[in-house]
Amino acid sequence: MRDHECVCIVDACVADRAPDTPPSVENSHVTRIGLISDIHSNLESLEAVLCDVSLAGIDTLICLGDITGYGPNPSECVDLIREACDLVVLGNHDEAMIDPEIGDRFRGSAQLALEYNRSNLTSQQLRYLRSLPERTEFGDLSVTHACFGPNKYDYLYSRETASQAFANMPTRFGAVGHTHLPSTFHCCAKSEGLPDQITMEPVVGRASLPIPENCRMIINPGSVGQPRDRNPDASWAVLDTEASTFQIRRVWYDVMQVEQKVLASGLPVAHGERLRVGA
Ligand SMILES: [Fe+2]
Repeated sequence: MRDHECVCIVDACVADRAPDTPPSVENSHVTRIGLISDIHSNLESLEAVLCDVSLAGIDTLICLGDITGYGPNPSECVDLIREACDLVVLGNHDEAMIDPEIGDRFRGSAQLALEYNRSNLTSQQLRYLRSLPERTEFGDLSVTHACFGPNKYDYLYSRETASQAFANMPTRFGAVGHTHLPSTFHCCAKSEGLPDQITMEPVVGRASLPIPENCRMIINPGSVGQPRDRNPDASWAVLDTEASTFQIRRVWYDVMQVEQKVLASGLPVAHGERLRVGA
């Protein structure tokens, strides 16, 4: 067992952090925000992350979308996210579950997984996905699945896309998923007369890092259920808006068990294999 593997029972973890009331901007005590994204029907990784969430001492848990797609347990993941999260936005895979036009754009193995995922969701779960917003604000934090720029499913990889995203974001902090890569984008004020400087960095390691006072920041917590940074451990993030710090946390889970489920479900073999290498 890895030293950071959580041993609590997931039901207890969810019960621990289920709020009595929905979060609101007025909840001034809400400073430590948990950010999870891109679960992709991977129940084992989601359960492991929810255990780590319960250990991390957070006030609010936000899901940045793509609960579904690729993996073998869409139904269980939708129910767990609905129960555990205070705020959830719609991802492109979730949208494909409820909008055939979007689904038609998926190709090859993603299309096969889409059909499997859709047929394993109840009408109530599809109705829940339909109710999710594409973007929203929570205090000084804007959240959406992919990008705050004009094209909602742009991948936030480049400085140019990040610049558009900052321009379309009314808050100091932003959170996105979609690339499955834990990373940050900073937009920092320079001397008067000079343009703001935008930098982007992958995040490696678990240290809690400071956010400079003169900077705005967009954080990508990486992926819970299908990391693509060559590290198979599930990834999520803590943003502390009061202390102005952020932390990426990685959590071990039983990848082989998920791979076996992928095979048993008749899903594309590659969807299991890639989990082992984090690609
Ligand atoms: Fe995704």
